[in-house]
Amino acid sequence: MHILVTGGAGFIGSHYVDLVLEQHADDRVTVLDALTYAGNRTNLARHEGDPRFRFVHGSISDAALVDVLVADADAVVNFAAETHVDRSLQAPDVFLRSNVEGVYILLDAVRRHDRRMVQVSTDEVYGDIPEGHFSTEDDPIAPRSPYSAAKAGGELFCRSFAISFGTDVLITRGCNTIGPRQYPEKLVPLFVSNALRGEPLPVYGDGMQIRDWLHAADHARAIDRVLRQGRAGEIYNIGAGNERANIDVVRAVLRRLGKDDTLIRHVPDRPGHDRRYALSWEKIRNELGWEPARDFGQTLHETIDWYVNNPAWLKAIRDDSTAFNDYYRQQYGWRLGAAPVQEG
Ligand code: TYD
Repeated sequence: MHILVTGGAGFIGSHYVDLVLEQHADDRVTVLDALTYAGNRTNLARHEGDPRFRFVHGSISDAALVDVLVADADAVVNFAAETHVDRSLQAPDVFLRSNVEGVYILLDAVRRHDRRMVQVSTDEVYGDIPEGHFSTEDDPIAPRSPYSAAKAGGELFCRSFAISFGTDVLITRGCNTIGPRQYPEKLVPLFVSNALRGEPLPVYGDGMQIRDWLHAADHARAIDRVLRQGRAGEIYNIGAGNERANIDVVRAVLRRLGKDDTLIRHVPDRPGHDRRYALSWEKIRNELGWEPARDFGQTLHETIDWYVNNPAWLKAIRDDSTAFNDYYRQQYGWRLGAAPVQEG
């Protein structure tokens, strides 16, 4: 099978490329990636020179390019997206373009060329989940941030194409994902990086928000199951059973790094911050036989250790990227106020 992996130079996308090329000897991969701030060609370095791998620099919004690439592939897995909630509060329009229009352009090509597509979505489309409930695929969606609204919009186009035109498209809704190579705007890589630099860890509000945490390699395995065995038109939740309050994740990060809790700063909350996401993932387990291979401790420790052992990867962003530093100042400068930077 020849798989077009859009957004394959990003975080979960690059783990998916690893999985396909390492575990499916007869498959080929074409990555289409716009290399916006979170895409990084070094994430794919190990595959350069492999005749089964091809990299194309471009956007899912380029309809002519997408048309050629979809025609040439057997299936499409779409990881290309704007993914960060805080950025969606700063500039929602970019999210509309990538996560709705971009998906539409891909989907339209998939429809015309009669291919299979997996749209990688998120548990955030369910919105804030009350204590004790675990969202199932049949629950209504109720997105609350511009990010999750845009992901929901992309999904709804996929659903509509499956129903209206019989397009072979499937949707996955994954929980919070961590692992090597995640852009350090997200909680875990940002906090590992700050702790290593002796800088404060900005915990939004009381830190009692709950997320379910999954390793990127386990997430990639789930998506691959859905691509190869999923039923057309279906939605599959991908959870891990690792519900944790943010503050407990932050403390676990500090413990692993041998740092104490004095680096923690409670800062003004994210507007509209969802308190809890929680998924039921019975469907993918029962229908497709998937479950995560790692528990929470292994997931977190493998993640932290990768950043510790790959300082050059983080340094290229933290020290050398003005885009990152502009974002960081805008997002955290006022939240952290005049708090002095602490020694680690
Ligand atoms: P994040 O990694 O941004 O994922 P999402 O918002 O998509 O779940 O954040 C995970 C949780 O950590 C979320 O509840 C917000 C919180 N958080 C902080 O408290 N401080 C931070 O600096 C960041 C980036 C996130």
